[in-house]
Amino acid sequence: MMIKVLGSAAGGGLPQWNCNGRNSAGVRKGAPGLAPRSQASVAVTEDGTQWVLLNAAPDLRQQINDTPELHPISDGAPRNSPIKAVVLTNGDVDTVAGLLTLREGQPFTVYGTARVLGVLASNSIFDVLDARLVKRVVMEFGRPFAVEGPLGPIGITIEDFPVPGKVPLYLEDTKAGAGLGTQVGDTVGLKVADAAGKRHFFYIPGCAKLDDPLRARLKGAPLLFFDGTLYTNDEMIAQGLLNKTGERMGHMNMSGNTGSIAEIAPLGVGRKIFIHINNSNPALREGSPERATVESAGWEISYDGMQMRV
Ligand code: MLT
Ligand code: MN
Repeated sequence: MMIKVLGSAAGGGLPQWNCNGRNSAGVRKGAPGLAPRSQASVAVTEDGTQWVLLNAAPDLRQQINDTPELHPISDGAPRNSPIKAVVLTNGDVDTVAGLLTLREGQPFTVYGTARVLGVLASNSIFDVLDARLVKRVVMEFGRPFAVEGPLGPIGITIEDFPVPGKVPLYLEDTKAGAGLGTQVGDTVGLKVADAAGKRHFFYIPGCAKLDDPLRARLKGAPLLFFDGTLYTNDEMIAQGLLNKTGERMGHMNMSGNTGSIAEIAPLGVGRKIFIHINNSNPALREGSPERATVESAGWEISYDGMQMRV
C-alpha cells in the first residue's frame, strides 16, 4: 500500500484564519522550523491508480492540486478522478466538508457509520453529491469490508471500530450531561489493510481516551496514525486561544502520565505518527523541547506531503 498524508493539521489548519497564536503568526511570518499545514486527511492506494481518502478535509481542493497522483489521468475521459472512495471517521467539519469539493458528477463511494451518515443525510447540502453516482455505505463494527469504487473493489480492506470521542461540535447537546449527547459510532478508528490482509495500519485522528479494547487492538501494530491535537490538555486556555481543554474537545493530549505518548508506549507499536495536530501544539515547531520529547519517545510528527509504503 502507498499512503500519502494530504493534510496533517487539526481543524483550522496552520495558520488558522483568525488565529494569531505563536504558531499561526509564526508561519505567516515565515519563521524557521514551522511549515503551513492543511487539515487532516490521508490517501491510500494498493494498485497505484485507485485511491481511497480517509476523511475529506475542507482543504481537499488544494490537497488534490498538490498531489499529482490524485489528478485526473490524461488519457481518460474528459472528466475523471483516481479518487474512488472516501471513508469518514466522524462528522466534524474538518472531516466531512471536503465532500462538497467532490461534487461535479463524479462517481465514488462514501463510507461512514450510521451516526456519521445520519449527519450527512440531515444536512441537505450534501445532496449536491448525486445519489445516483455517489453511493453512501454504512460501516458496521466487526465487519471488515472491501473498499469499492464505481467499478468494484480497489484492493483495500477497512475495518472500523469505536473509539472514545465526542459528537461533532455543531451537534453538542449541552443539556445531555458530560457526554454532550455523544453516542457510539460518532468517532471511529480505522484498520486499513491490503486485500490479502498481509499489511495494515491504523488511522485514529480523533481519540478522547485509550480504553482497554483500543489498547488490545493496537498492541503490536506495525504502524499507527494517532490524534496529535494537543501537547497539553489546557494549552489552548494557557495561550488564550479558546476556553476549552482537550478533554472537553474529545482529544487526549500527547504529554504527561495519561497522555498518548505514555499510554501507547507499552503497546509495542512499530511506527507511531501524530496527525490532526492543532495549531496551538508546540511540538509543531522543529527544535522545540516539546518536539524533542515527542521524537525521543519514538513518535513522528506528520506533515503535508509525507508518504510511505507499507
Ligand atoms: C475537533 O477535532 O475537535 C473538531 O474538528 C473541532 C471543530 O469542529 O472545530
Ligand atoms: Mn478535528
